[in-house]
Amino acid sequence: MDSRPRAPTRTDIPVLLRARPREIWVELTSNCNARCIYCCVSQPGYEGKDLALTPEELAAMLQPYSPPEVRITGHGETTMLPHWTRTARLLLQQGFAVTTNSNFAKEFSDEEIDVLSRFRSLEISCDVADAELLPRVRRGCRLERIEANLARVIAACKRDFRELPHLNISATLTDLTMHGLPDLVRWASAHGAHAMEVVNLERYPAPPGVVEWRHPSEADPERMLALIEESSRIAKQLGFVFRVQQGLIDACWLALGRSGEAPRGFAL
Ligand SMILES: C[S@@+](CC[C@H](N)C(=O)[O-])C[C@H]1O[C@@H](n2cnc3c(N)ncnc32)[C@H](O)[C@@H]1O
Ligand code: SF4
Repeated sequence: MDSRPRAPTRTDIPVLLRARPREIWVELTSNCNARCIYCCVSQPGYEGKDLALTPEELAAMLQPYSPPEVRITGHGETTMLPHWTRTARLLLQQGFAVTTNSNFAKEFSDEEIDVLSRFRSLEISCDVADAELLPRVRRGCRLERIEANLARVIAACKRDFRELPHLNISATLTDLTMHGLPDLVRWASAHGAHAMEVVNLERYPAPPGVVEWRHPSEADPERMLALIEESSRIAKQLGFVFRVQQGLIDACWLALGRSGEAPRGFAL
């Protein structure tokens, strides 16, 4: 007998989902092919899992809700699953706008690049444009690999006269990588990205044997705010969208003991 869980039916779905969500996030896996030092995936005892649905079961389950957008990501790396392109193609064929977050750590096959180039948006994680430092922080990721994968996605769209996915570089900064922020903005723009977002680091205990790091607000909040301002200026000059999670600005503001609310936006 097949012991896998059956695909949920309409009556299984919580009432909230009946409101026809605008966007559905599906975590295909919480396993990962990288071990970023600050990610919960690197915590001792972490165990990832793959979604116990076949691509066909998942596509059939989402079909009645016809959300405008399906994001296939979670706390793991979707592209390490052998069948991820089959899932994505089925969803694309059903007319969904598909998006994902990825570490771009592996050398994608031509099929994977073709599928990625059909997505509505790609959030690509890269914390620093320093080929030596990046793999020390995002263990398993390589700057040259990210650059090559980005270039191939862009080339696939050009080849097919297709609009590019919205390419957003996502940077989770620590005190090790924060100093490279202005260069990261220049790098992201030079490699064809449309936007960049700086993420506010959630602190987990350091896993054993990794390089020490701190939240930027604990290390040098004044410098972090100055780097944000400088990077924002550079982004404006380049016509590039640059966002920073407000929590990072608030944390630096608080650490400096400044009065009142932290400024919103980048006029620091
Ligand atoms: C959990 S990952 C999953 C998708 C994919 N593996 C990736 O790295 O893009 C999604 C985003 O969360 C960020 N992230 C990981 N650990 C974090 C933490 N402790 N605090 C804030 N963001 C974190 C990552 O840097 C990445 O940009
Ligand atoms: S690639 Fe993503 S999921 Fe994997 S360890 Fe890094 S941040 Fe976590």
